[in-house]
This record gives sequence, structure tokens and C-alpha cells, in this order.
Amino acid sequence: MTDSFVIEPLSSRHDRTAFACGIEPLDRYLQTQANQDIRRRISNCFVAVPVGGKSVAGFYTLSASSIPLTEVPTELSGRPPRYPVLPAALVGRLAVDRRFMRRSLGSAMLYDAIDRTMHADPAIFALIVDAKDEIAANYYKRFGFQPFASRPLSFFLPLATAAKLIAK
Ligand SMILES: CC(C)(COP(=O)(O)OP(=O)(O)OC[C@H]1O[C@@H](n2cnc3c(N)ncnc32)[C@H](O)[C@@H]1OP(=O)(O)O)[C@@H](O)C(=O)NCCC(=O)NCCS
Repeated sequence: MTDSFVIEPLSSRHDRTAFACGIEPLDRYLQTQANQDIRRRISNCFVAVPVGGKSVAGFYTLSASSIPLTEVPTELSGRPPRYPVLPAALVGRLAVDRRFMRRSLGSAMLYDAIDRTMHADPAIFALIVDAKDEIAANYYKRFGFQPFASRPLSFFLPLATAAKLIAK
């Protein structure tokens, strides 16, 4: 089903007015805040739209972040010299319009975020996601995201691990 969608940077050609994922702050963010955040270089926003269409069926945001080394198990952080923080990218928001839920669009957007992060020029150790509740947390765990020791609703996925999962 995701074959009939394209995931691309949000632009003025996209129609966001009817977007409704069931969580009003996420809908409002897309409609009123996303463009401003892009302009201010706070976060980028990528949208899923039907091929040849312009109505937004899903979106996610992506920005630079970091992970304190203390949050990462030793086997993942490597041998010394070790750094106090590791570079990361954050998927701060992820949402699918109700009409398009359970059609793998959320999964496709997460893979898109992993792919963009893996191919970014700055080295990025891991992708971080923030879950708003236990349901969202369980959603991310299915993809192999691990919880932060100190923030149980924030998760990270080392990109080296993601690469192995994708190669399988
Ligand atoms: C969470 C969300 C992004 C998932 O998007 P989606 O395109 O519907 O999800 P997918 O089709 O990729 O789902 C993949 C799998 O995740 C699980 N899943 C998805 N939504 C679920 C839900 N609401 N409850 C339980 N499991 C769910 C299912 O196992 C599903 O596989 P299946 O359909 O084969 O059973 C979407 O439901 C959404 O926008 N929710 C509101 C906003 C939100 O909670 N965002 C999360 C970040 S804060």
C-alpha cells in the first residue's frame, strides 16, 4: 500500500488543512507550526502524500539531537576514547491521518527517517523517538528501539543496528 505514496519534504504545494490523526496538538503542529520550525532551522518536516496528489496522509519531524553516553550500554558505545555525548537525530513527531492508519505508512516514514539519517553527511550514531504514551512506546519497540535509562518514553535505535535489521 505504501507503493502508492511518496515521502518528501513539506512544501507550499502540500495541502495540510484536512489532516487529522486523532491527536489535536499533532494536527495543529502540522497546520500552524511546521513551516515556521523549518524556516528557523529548528526541525525539518517530511510528509507522505499519494503519488500525484497533494493532501498530507502522514508526517514526521526530524532534527539534530544527542545522547548522553551514560544512556548507552557499553557494548554499543565502543571502546575508549569515549565521548560524553553521541550524535543523534530526533523524530520528534510522527503521525498518520486516520483515513490512512494501519496501512504501513507510519512504518514507511520511520524507515524513511532511518534512511535519511544513515545517509546524512554528519555522522549520526542513533535515531531517537519520543513516544507520547505506552501505545506509541510499544509501536516503536517493534522496530527495535530501546528505552533510555532515565526517560522511559524516549527510545533510541543505533544506526549500525538499524542497518543490520534492514539488510536481513
Ligand atoms: C502510531 C501511528 C503513527 C502508526 O501509524 P500507522 O501507519 O497506522 O502504523 P503501521 O500501519 O505502520 O503499523 C505497523 C504496526 O504497528 C502496530 N500498530 C499500529 N498502530 C497501532 C495501534 N493504534 N495500536 C496497536 N498497534 C498498532 C500494528 O502491529 C501494526 O501492524 P498491523 O497493522 O500489521 O497489525 C499512527 O497510529 C498515529 O498517527 N497515531 C496518532 C499519533 C501517534 O500516536 N504518534 C506516535 C508518536 S507520538
